Amino acid sequence: MNTSSKRLVNSELLVINLKTYKEGTGINALKIAKMCEQIQKNTKIKLIIAAQPTDILLLTTKTKIPIIAQHIDPINYGSNTGSILPESVIEAGAIGTLINHSEKRLNSSIIINTIQLCKQKNLLSVLCVKDEKEAKKYAEYHPDLIAIEPPELIGGKISISTAEPELITKTLRTVGKIPLLCGAGVHTREDVHHAYKLGAKGILVASGVVKAKNVKKEIEQLILGFKKLSK
Ligand code: G3P
Repeated sequence: MNTSSKRLVNSELLVINLKTYKEGTGINALKIAKMCEQIQKNTKIKLIIAAQPTDILLLTTKTKIPIIAQHIDPINYGSNTGSILPESVIEAGAIGTLINHSEKRLNSSIIINTIQLCKQKNLLSVLCVKDEKEAKKYAEYHPDLIAIEPPELIGGKISISTAEPELITKTLRTVGKIPLLCGAGVHTREDVHHAYKLGAKGILVASGVVKAKNVKKEIEQLILGFKKLSK
């Protein structure tokens, strides 16, 4: 991990996963990244976007928002048709990658290889897990961040912090010093605040932002959730 990634890992984070939503693809991805760039000027919470591989270069050349890939394959240059080459996302300007997102589940050896490859290539590794058991299994490989997302809450209206607060607290104990993100169903400032209060370092969010009527306003209100509790 390079110095600026280290700085990111030590900050409160709002990671916006654009998935393959129409509202988060191509020119629409750029619109969201530009909004993030504006918002970033007025907040200490660090914004990161997880983009499709085909959009990374566009976003990194037109904005200063850190971009991570949604997935990479632990492969080298060569005969790997259809795979995502780590060097390609690096060359396009990505600073890291999600690994094992709920919608792109990987087997154990691929997860471990990808975490190790990220270390070799100085890519920020954001390992997604579905439960505490999985967090425990991979914490020993030291991904830079772990993101817990209960699959059944993804894309819904009820957030992890409302439905499964104990999952956040239990996983925090399991991951030790690795900063924990949490996600699934996050839509409101309260959802963020609750997770933050429980000890999450950041939020991984998709539909709540990407499909919001007013994306800028939604990001701004989620950021407010990181504010310390006022008495
Ligand atoms: O990667 C973020 C994600 O899976 C959560 O999705 O739509 O519930 O915020 P969403």
